[in-house]
Amino acid sequence: DWTMRAFREEAIEKIRAQVGPGRVICGLSGGVDSAVAAVLIHEAIGHQLTCVFVDHGMLRLDEAKTVVDLFRHHYNIPLVHVDASKQFLGELAGVTDPEIKRKTIGRLFIDVFDAEAKKIGGADFLAQGTLYPDVIESVSFTGGPSVTIKSHHNVGGLPERMNMKLVEPLRELFKDEVRVLGRELGLPEIFVGRHPFPGPGLAIRCPGDITKEKLDILRQADAVYIDQIRKAGLYDTIWQAFAVLLPVKTVGVMGDGRTYEYVVGLRAVTSTDGMTADFYPFDMSFLGQTATRIINEVKGVNRVVYDVTSKPPGTIEWE
Ligand code: XMP
Repeated sequence: DWTMRAFREEAIEKIRAQVGPGRVICGLSGGVDSAVAAVLIHEAIGHQLTCVFVDHGMLRLDEAKTVVDLFRHHYNIPLVHVDASKQFLGELAGVTDPEIKRKTIGRLFIDVFDAEAKKIGGADFLAQGTLYPDVIESVSFTGGPSVTIKSHHNVGGLPERMNMKLVEPLRELFKDEVRVLGRELGLPEIFVGRHPFPGPGLAIRCPGDITKEKLDILRQADAVYIDQIRKAGLYDTIWQAFAVLLPVKTVGVMGDGRTYEYVVGLRAVTSTDGMTADFYPFDMSFLGQTATRIINEVKGVNRVVYDVTSKPPGTIEWE
């Protein structure tokens, strides 16, 4: 793709001009955007870049291993793997307001990046995989009054006190363009084609307060759901699919016993840029089989519902 080749060359020049001899820290989230940003910046400035992967305890099943393997073994890019799950889950305990969740997570990310920067003798820049739609949605509705829909942690949520300047080489791109760029940079297809995953992670898929118990249930339900989608050959047709754990228990019956367990919500949408989206029209038989598998395989769940809301009026994530 010649357009992306040109973009790549230009972006590399811009990064070099901005950074000079400075040191850069890049937060990896497990998503495509931060991975592409990291590989691009590494190409521009090599060992001036250190990548930091923060395990905040709200990642998908096996996420940490997948990301660490890709970067350490495939790219040989220096990577610091920080397990900050106790700190994040501790500070989030009892927090139920979605915006406070997002802001708390944004603040803790900066604390971790600051601490890691000190360990390598200081960093001048923080790199992020911010895309064009992130910028727009965190700022305002076009043409309307300025209303923040959500504080994307990689845009609005950064505390003023941060001592590092931002490097955001993907700020003008849409998701489909980032994927083309990722392929251009040689990222494996399995990674480039992954569904988007938000920086705040499962925190915004767990309405109400977040506990380790709930996150473990959610991780397992999500893994079964994605496995079902892959087996049905639908993964690449869908923009994003994930499970949500509702803060509600309902009564059920299993064998001759009464159950009282959590409800899992399933979300799947088609979209081209995440700004608008349609719910995915699964066959009822697919939904039925998926519900049966989740209830049989995931302890703590006895009911599954499917979200048929498009965006607008719903957002893709539940918080
Ligand atoms: P919403 O829920 O706003 O999501 O319709 C649109 C797209 O953005 C992703 N998203 C985020 N990505 N940090 C991110 O890196 C965030 O804070 C964040 N919030 C939402 C969401 O997964 C969807 O793809």
